Amino acid sequence: MSFEEVFDASYKRVISDSNNGVSFFDAFYIQFLGCNEEVAARFSNTDMTAQQGMLKKSFYSLFAFYASGQADDSIRNIAEKHNHKNLDIKPEFYDQWLECLIQTLSQYDEQFCNDVELAWRLVMAPGITYMKFKYDKEY
Ligand code: HEM
Repeated sequence: MSFEEVFDASYKRVISDSNNGVSFFDAFYIQFLGCNEEVAARFSNTDMTAQQGMLKKSFYSLFAFYASGQADDSIRNIAEKHNHKNLDIKPEFYDQWLECLIQTLSQYDEQFCNDVELAWRLVMAPGITYMKFKYDKEY
């Protein structure tokens, strides 16, 4: 199985697992907001139900970027929204974001193993690199 296939199969498992009514994306945000006060402060006025829906959608943008190697309007808009002029999400926040995602994954995918973890890290890496790179670049 390719890493893309490993990621796909794992993603299907985690989104269909409601873990006592707490979805994967809910659990991710609980983890991410708990990781430090500054992250929590950034979301203090956010409707987290809408936010987790948006993240679910934006996962497709991250995946499409990995698969196509081309930035579409969706990932461009997300990066612009997060850059220093707008939400001002500093590059180091993305490392915490990814670690929380992997932590949540380890709790939600009953087949979690090194290959699954690596597949997710590989799929997320181009999108995260893109977002970090665009933090202080002009469009
Ligand atoms: C690759 C990782 C990430 C993706 C795909 C992502 C995706 C998104 C999307 C799609 C939105 C909604 C944009 C809109 O309203 O048009 C959003 C909003 C937001 N994101 Fe991210 N994000 C990422 C990482 C982060 C990180 C690391 C932080 C750090 C704290 C963060 C903080 C926020 C905040 C504060 C908002 C605005 C929430 C609100 O509207 O109140 N994001 N993100």
